[in-house]
Amino acid sequence: MGFSDWKNFARNKIGDNDVLAAKHVFELLKTPVYFYRKLRAALLWRAKARHLYKTKSGLQLHLGCGDQHLPGMLNCEYRATRAADVIMDCGSLRRFKENSVSLIFSSAFFEHLYRRQQIPLLKDCHRVLNHDGVVVFLMLPDFKVIAESYLSRLPGHPGRSEYFDLFQVYRYTHGDPEMAPEYWTQQLHKSLFDRDALRELLLAAGFRYWMIFNYAYPNEKIPLNLGFVAWKNRPVEQMSEFKKLLDKFRPYFADFNEPLIPANLMASSDLPPAIHPS
Ligand SMILES: C[S@@+](CC[C@H](N)C(=O)[O-])C[C@H]1O[C@@H](n2cnc3c(N)ncnc32)[C@H](O)[C@@H]1O
Repeated sequence: MGFSDWKNFARNKIGDNDVLAAKHVFELLKTPVYFYRKLRAALLWRAKARHLYKTKSGLQLHLGCGDQHLPGMLNCEYRATRAADVIMDCGSLRRFKENSVSLIFSSAFFEHLYRRQQIPLLKDCHRVLNHDGVVVFLMLPDFKVIAESYLSRLPGHPGRSEYFDLFQVYRYTHGDPEMAPEYWTQQLHKSLFDRDALRELLLAAGFRYWMIFNYAYPNEKIPLNLGFVAWKNRPVEQMSEFKKLLDKFRPYFADFNEPLIPANLMASSDLPPAIHPS
């Protein structure tokens, strides 16, 4: 029996509320662990940031890292997870200096911010990036693709549901926060996106060069994730450079070799193109 089978078994036997109560007790027992992680992060994050700043790749931030510790990056998170180097509200980057960061990465994070935090965070990204700095945000659910998938009864994700049903819609629009009762509020998706919405946010934050694209997550077929790369100054000019930039994030893509971006849309312009899937 897998972990989720055990969870369902417990739920059926003792009821949802008791499972929730047990989880809270478990969380309470873990308090010393959280305290230790917070203390460790508070004492060590500056040294790690300084060290990364001096490396060839420069200081790279990973916002809303959850349990994913990416090596060579400063992993930032609200919760004291084992992956986090810094415990912070990633809605603000005020602790980082202007022109000090070379890359800001996030995956499945931006949709967890309140709407009022979105433009200020993107402005903050623009402020802290160095001259060649770049933002790479992945895994934002694309509401347009989600709605179309539901309305046209597309097949669901393999092994999960026959059709892209209402629960699948709910997972992406709301983030299914019930699965994370200890951090329900952080898990809740606070807004919906499509390419136009992202383009407006980036423009309002002061970015002029970006690429927005759709792609499917591993083991999924529908390209319902939005990703974007935004440059502080100069975008890359070749598709090969663009792929090189995304290469370290390969595990986030179902098929990294699928052409996400038609080459003729790569040229930079004052009116940045929304990049369409092939
Ligand atoms: C869906 S998880 C994604 C985790 C990880 N990036 C991944 O791809 O597996 C979203 C994460 O963002 C964190 N989060 C949400 N709001 C946050 C905020 N304001 N500041 C920092 N982290 C936040 C949550 O605690 C959660 O760990």
